[in-house]
Amino acid sequence: MTEREQALIAQADDEVAKHEENIKNDPYRLTYHLMSPVGLINDPNGWIQWNGMYHMFYQWNPFKAGHGAKFWGHYTSTDLVNWKHEPIALAPSEWYEKNGCYSGSAVDLDGKLTLFYTGNVKDEQGNRESYQCIAQSEDGITFDKQGPVIDGLPEGYTAHFRDPKVWKHNGMWYLVIGAQTEDLKGHALLYRSGDGREWTNLGPVAGAGIPPLQSFGYMWECPDMFSLGDKDVMIVSPQGLDPEGMHYHNTYQAGYFVGELDYETPKFHHGAFDELDRGFEFYAPQTTEDEKGRRILVGWMGVPDQQEDQHPTVDNGWIHCLTIPRELRLQGDRLIQVPVEELKDMRAGEVEHTAANLQAGSQMLEDVSGDVAELELTDFSDLPSFFEVELRGTARLIYDREGKVLTLERKNFADRLTEKRQCHLEELRSIRIFMDTSSLEIFVNGGEEVFTLRYFPSPQARDITFTSSEKAVVTVKKWGLKG
Ligand code: FRU
Repeated sequence: MTEREQALIAQADDEVAKHEENIKNDPYRLTYHLMSPVGLINDPNGWIQWNGMYHMFYQWNPFKAGHGAKFWGHYTSTDLVNWKHEPIALAPSEWYEKNGCYSGSAVDLDGKLTLFYTGNVKDEQGNRESYQCIAQSEDGITFDKQGPVIDGLPEGYTAHFRDPKVWKHNGMWYLVIGAQTEDLKGHALLYRSGDGREWTNLGPVAGAGIPPLQSFGYMWECPDMFSLGDKDVMIVSPQGLDPEGMHYHNTYQAGYFVGELDYETPKFHHGAFDELDRGFEFYAPQTTEDEKGRRILVGWMGVPDQQEDQHPTVDNGWIHCLTIPRELRLQGDRLIQVPVEELKDMRAGEVEHTAANLQAGSQMLEDVSGDVAELELTDFSDLPSFFEVELRGTARLIYDREGKVLTLERKNFADRLTEKRQCHLEELRSIRIFMDTSSLEIFVNGGEEVFTLRYFPSPQARDITFTSSEKAVVTVKKWGLKG
């Protein structure tokens, strides 16, 4: 480790120690979601199960609750429920990453846990350079930086060239990487390598202006490519999509295409883009295949430039978190997200109202309240024309049966005005909600639709209220969750 790297890590550790007490007492600190100990967390990185152990790295600015020269923070887990915060994996100490060890992925290369990431470099005029770098570890904890394996930019592209996601296919290494053309179109490029070190650019596989897409954003961040069943899936976070009906109302989007990757041409033959999430805070997700063969996704519960400076936690020196891990499944050409089975181990104390009779109007159910809880609604019979669940006075999920529209409303955390996100929903069959002190993850119809958001209710607020336009019957279960 260089002296500069040691010094940066020591500074970050000091920052953690300095803010520890204050941050611990913040009532909005989450209980079972991954956060940085201080400062800002953004993208999940290097998500992998390696030699049995799950590793989750993350983009981290330890020095302020805002963006800057990113480190890679690091968590490990054996069970996806209990996580240990590990020493910093990467600090932006070298010339090729001095303005941030940006996002990337992890694979096992030569029996070593190997990180591929983007070295972000800016000069005094703000000109950017991007280097795709490698760091390797034998113990999974300390990393040996080996510097750039792809330097310089592909012809016709700007320095917005980042976020390599690496995988192996038929004995060769591949990576997809986010890129921007000189005429400001977002693309995903495919590279190939025999040894993981010498890389050949095969060209763009999908992007704005590449059929079937026309204009589709000025930059594609964090592409991820994998096969699921007999299909290939690309997840990507495009920037620059305009709102369209109920879609694309966040500052930037995160979604997916299903299709088939032709590695030779190369070209990704894909269908339409769909957002992965219908809520307010969800971006830059990354997936990995674990040793059980599950494709597991974790996202960042935040969106760049979306009122980030107005989060109430900024005053306490921290901001954002990651989502719970979700298993991905394909239903036709649609991705379904299901919280990983292991999360059931967090349940403590079950309350069950089997076939509860709801009256027309608003009501609470005995012992169904809380701030850190899992809530499940199933077996609706006679679904009313309007049905609503209100959470802690700050968010409401409303189903309009006639209009077939599902609406999420929340009080904006800056001005407290009500804002909403919506999606079309043919029928409502079930709702499963993971509540944490300041987050909600709402899985509808077994994960066919998901709403992810931060919310900041009064810390004392615990009411969960059900409102129905007519009498209705539904089974409601609630568990406490131990983080
Ligand atoms: C996405 C992103 C990536 C980049 C990283 C920097 O949120 O902008 O494209 O690598 O964050 O922290």
